Amino acid sequence: MELEEAIKKRKSVRNFSVKKPSWRDIIQAIDYARFAPMAGNIYSVKFIFVSDREKIDKIAEACQQEFVGKVHYLVVVVSDRENVKKNYDFYDKQFGAQQSGAAIQNFLLGITEKGLSTCWVGFFVEDQIKRTLSIPEKMCVEAVFPIGIEHQFMKGRSKTKIDLDSILFFNKYGKKNLDSDDTKPSFDNS
Ligand SMILES: Cc1cc2nc3c(=O)[nH]c(=O)nc-3n(C[C@H](O)[C@H](O)[C@H](O)COP(=O)(O)O)c2cc1C
Repeated sequence: MELEEAIKKRKSVRNFSVKKPSWRDIIQAIDYARFAPMAGNIYSVKFIFVSDREKIDKIAEACQQEFVGKVHYLVVVVSDRENVKKNYDFYDKQFGAQQSGAAIQNFLLGITEKGLSTCWVGFFVEDQIKRTLSIPEKMCVEAVFPIGIEHQFMKGRSKTKIDLDSILFFNKYGKKNLDSDDTKPSFDNS
């Protein structure tokens, strides 16, 4: 799958078929996350693959969202913000969250490429998830991803996305057009 297609095809799915996805495909999508940028190249993110039924049920309860439990596999993303703090002091929260987001987006594009579906779940009782998966206290639970195959009856639906015009400025905040000099062809081949 081409990058553009994966980016545009990715969407949140909350209705899954009963069919079991390939665990190998999920692990390969996690492998893509290794290539995300990290400050100082210090990798701060971990992925926990969960297949244990009892644990999936407990995590769905911690998220208080029923669809989270209606899958064969879950992936829980955690990050070591303490380690980020050691290296980047008061940037720990910012860098920790940004690095997790970069790693997660690679993972999501991988999930899309494999024909699988998920939804980024960010609302949960963190302690409950930590207890369920024996996650050390110092780690931060970033997100939960129930992974499945999209249910046939929901297929094809996706959200309208914001226009480029609404998010892009030129040279200063709020300026909506490119300077005329920038649109001239360049003859410099160096
Ligand atoms: C940080 C974050 C937290 C989110 N938390 C939840 C959540 O707890 N439950 C849920 O159903 N969707 C959650 N979402 C999914 C968003 O609702 C979804 O991405 C958004 O509506 C855009 O739809 P799309 O993913 O199909 O493009 C979350 C997304 C992000 C990025």
